Amino acid sequence: MRALGIETSCDETAVAVLEGDGRVVFNVISSQAAAHAPYLGVVPEIAARHHLEALPKLLAEADRQVGLAGVELVAVTRGPGLIGSLLVGTCFASAYAWARKLPLVGVDHLEGHLVSPFLNLEDAPARGTVEGTLTLVISGGHSSYFLLAGGEARPLNRTRDDAAGEVFDKVAAALGLGYPGGPVVDVLAERGDPARFEFSRPRIKDPAGALDFSFSGLKTSVIRTAQGLGQVPLPDPGKPPQAFLDLLASFQSTIVEWLLWPLEELVARHAPRLVAASGGVAGNRELRRRLAAWGERSGIEVLLPPVALTTDNAAMIAWAGQTRAARGERDDPRALAAYPRAPWKTAGGPGGKPVFPAL
Ligand code: KG4
Ligand code: ZN
Repeated sequence: MRALGIETSCDETAVAVLEGDGRVVFNVISSQAAAHAPYLGVVPEIAARHHLEALPKLLAEADRQVGLAGVELVAVTRGPGLIGSLLVGTCFASAYAWARKLPLVGVDHLEGHLVSPFLNLEDAPARGTVEGTLTLVISGGHSSYFLLAGGEARPLNRTRDDAAGEVFDKVAAALGLGYPGGPVVDVLAERGDPARFEFSRPRIKDPAGALDFSFSGLKTSVIRTAQGLGQVPLPDPGKPPQAFLDLLASFQSTIVEWLLWPLEELVARHAPRLVAASGGVAGNRELRRRLAAWGERSGIEVLLPPVALTTDNAAMIAWAGQTRAARGERDDPRALAAYPRAPWKTAGGPGGKPVFPAL
């Protein structure tokens, strides 16, 4: 089914159109980064208003470029995320589906990130989701390995404090490098010496072998070290002194190393057929290099989405929606509820059981 995807969970308004085979024919993201930059983070009210203004424009653009007459399914992110932003997307998608008498499917944002490695931007069909894929989802809100098996994605570990992307953002904000921080750090770290600063691994009790992450200690150490090096926020963020570039390179190298640290053990436990990464931090070049190198060494296939599909986009939502629709799932456009928190984090399913993202 030709699907229209709509994503408004945070600060990107995204619309995509996918053919039934997952071919991406339209994929546009309207970034609000400039609107939030003065506040060094996302302001929920500004985000919701921006979505409301941007959605009709993006839909009109999609109609002009590829035509929406042939759309047979509407897929929309229903959570988790900022509730005001989600409500704009779900109400808009529900009204659109209702008015055009099209089937509607609500999609979990995580499901989108989990299927994104199987998509491409080369006008080729998507690859089917592979059973037994081990996926590292790293974004502004998530840092977990998931195992895709039996039609659902089970989280295998979690972060005990900050998400990986959040740490990139907070370090960059403290240094005066703007928001979002990940892409800036990625570029600046290229010019620094990753061996100059060393950070010790968090000592967290892990008797059950949960392999959890913890990044807030690293964040604090990096910001303290920066304060010891000179004036922060940097007086001239366009030209950071070499010591700061070395610090950013060391920070990035450390966080990438920690993100990949549970990999060997999880591979030993679950014998995955494929290892994938997704979410904004999966666009990080150092992470992509190291994960690809790991794949070469281990002989296990590594699948990375195109960088443009690592951050929030609607192509992944349309594809996750098509997967749900193919199983016969439909949502009532008069009753599609949005949710701010991940159901698998809150054990919010029937009987208090966690509901994992379906694939
Ligand atoms: O997936 P995403 O767009 O939104 C969430 O679901 O959170 O991820 C955004 C996060 C931000 O924290 C951003 O700084 C980070 O991904 N990010 C990166 C890079 N590009 C985006 N972090 C490190 N390196 C990058 N190249
Ligand atoms: Zn995301």
